[in-house]
This record gives sequence, C-alpha cells and structure tokens, in this order.
Amino acid sequence: MTVKIAVLPGDGIGPEIVREAVKVIDALNEVFGLGAECEEALIGGAGFDGAGDPYPEQTRRLAKAADAVLLGAVGGPKWESLDKPLRPEAGLLRIREDLSLFANYRPAKVHRQLLDASTLKPEVIEGVDILVVRELVGGIYFGRPRGWEKDGRERRAFNTMVYGESEVRRIARKAFEAARLRQGRVCSVEKANVLEVSELWRQIVTEVHEREFSDVALEHMYVDNAAMQLIRHPRQFDVIVTGNLFGDILSDEASMLTGSIGMLPSASIGEHHAMYEPIHGSAPDIAGQNRANPLATILSVAMMLRYSLERPDLADKVEQAVERVLDDGLRTADLAFDGGHAVSCTAMGDAVAQRLRMLGE
Ligand code: IPM
Ligand code: MG
Repeated sequence: MTVKIAVLPGDGIGPEIVREAVKVIDALNEVFGLGAECEEALIGGAGFDGAGDPYPEQTRRLAKAADAVLLGAVGGPKWESLDKPLRPEAGLLRIREDLSLFANYRPAKVHRQLLDASTLKPEVIEGVDILVVRELVGGIYFGRPRGWEKDGRERRAFNTMVYGESEVRRIARKAFEAARLRQGRVCSVEKANVLEVSELWRQIVTEVHEREFSDVALEHMYVDNAAMQLIRHPRQFDVIVTGNLFGDILSDEASMLTGSIGMLPSASIGEHHAMYEPIHGSAPDIAGQNRANPLATILSVAMMLRYSLERPDLADKVEQAVERVLDDGLRTADLAFDGGHAVSCTAMGDAVAQRLRMLGE
C-alpha cells in the first residue's frame, strides 16, 4: 500500500528543512516499509514566482488528492510589497481554508536535553508539556468585513473577530478529546471581559464541557493572564484551546519555553484533510546558509505518521531518533548557546535518518 504525501517546501529555509524531513521519510520507506510517495509543489512566494499565485491550482489539486500535506514555511522580504492576495501568507491562509483545517495542534514539550537552551530557568520549564489547540480557519484572520477605507483625510483599516457557535463547538470538542488522552485538563483562553466574541466562546466551551466532557477539568483564562502564566508557571497547563489570533501569539510564546521555536511541530486537521508544518516561519535571515533547525519539520512528520498515516509505531521511532541526536549532543545554531559547536541543517537531518536506521536494525 502506498501513501501519498504532498510536499510543499515554500520559501526561505522551507526547502532546506523539508529536504531533511524527506530524508527521514526515505529512511522510513527503506527500513520500515512505510510506502510513502512524496510529490512536490509550489506554495507561497515560490508559488507566486513559479505560477503567479501563492496557492497555484496544481498545488491545490495535489494537496486535495494526498493523504497528507507536509509544508515548510512561506514568506520573505522579496514579496512584501505585493498586493495582499498575492503575498505568500495569503497562500498559506488559502490552503488552510480550502482544506478546512480548523484544528491546529501545537505541542510545546520541553526536551530535557535542552533545558539550558531556554532563556527561562530550568526549574520553571522542567517537565513542561503543553498542547495548544488553535482554531485555524476562523476568527479575525478570516472575519468580514475587513479592509481599508478613507474617512475624510484619514485612512482607516479594520478587521472583524467573529465566531459562530458551531465553529467554537467543533474546536472545543477537539481540545477535550485531546485532553482525555493527556492529563485531562483544558484551559480555554479568550478575552470575555471585553469582547462579545469571547463571551460566546466561553458559553459554548462551557456547554460542550457540561454536556459531553464533564470528566475533563475545564478552566477559563483571559489571554493577557494566560500570556503571563505561561512564563510564570508553565507546568500548570495541559491543553490550551483558543482562537486563531490568540493561538498564533501564545504558541510562539510557548515555543520559547522549549528553548527554540525551531523545535515545534504542528498538525492542522480538518474532516477530510491534514497538513503538517513547523510553527516557525521562513527565517529569511538564515535562508540558504544550511544553518536552520530541521527538527520541527521532522517532528511534524512524526505527527503525520500518528494522525494521518495510522503509524503511531513509526511516529515513536522518529521521536526516539530525535531524542538520540539530542542525547548525543547535536545542536543546530539556534540551540547551541554559549559558543557551543553547531551542526548544519543537513548534518542534523542526516543524523536523525541515521539513528532511525539504527532503530530499525
Ligand atoms: C503561523 C504563522 C502564520 C499565521 C502566518 C505566516 C500567516 O505565523 O502559522 O503561526 O499567522 O498563522
Ligand atoms: Mg505564528
């Protein structure tokens, strides 16, 4: 049996990190008979350059036909002056919307080998294991009306933060379901002291909890407090469920608990499709220098194995291989503090693939 993976490297460091993740998929094919076929397509700035569209039709067809999508990153200064719909970010938002990938899972787990790589004290971050469940196809990212207008001599711009009950209900369910497989605690984050959209969010989350998930512990927290608590006492969190914008911000913050944003994978899942991508961006400042950390993308492959390809056994193997390279002291530049030796992106990918082969022997 073959599984089809649509591979969308994108921009900046995207092609470099994805190349290393594909090495890992190759190793899984060779050693464990995964039977995955990878096919590449353009997205983001690369889509604009190659096909005049940040989400080209050919990419769309490939993604829809695939069992899973693996994405690198999009964006860069080269495309910043384009009209909004042609910018790389528009391509990413369109593929998320087109595939209805409403549930975005962003695990922030502290690897004990990297305790010293975080800017926070080891005793604060030790044992941190948080799952941010971010709503991905609604909220202020997609709400209408949006746009620009001119009011006399002054320009104004506006966006709309809007959620419907059904959108909140489906993401709440995903968070509660995830919590049942973890420590059984959900923290719902919003700004209900100010925003109506958050009042609705809180009501629906409470209702879903009472009716379907009363075995899970539920807490509500305002987003400003949540931002503070994440730094003050991150171990208090198990699953955080939140809307699109707050989830974007809090998941970047949570990543710094783990030492580097270069470590965080993600899964974006809908009813029929799923896409896997590192949470970090395209890092144009280090693109093409073979310095990026491919581990977030490699760990995204592990999430793909678990959630889309029904191979939790191989997901474990990939995660073990990553643990081994960290145990062996390999660090890319983002993780090598205090002048420690840093390995290249390709060396890191090779090392993970090699450890994976050893696990298969
Ligand atoms: C992310 C990114 C994207 C987002 C950008 C690139 C549009 O920051 O995946 O977190 O805001 O969702
Ligand atoms: Mg982000």
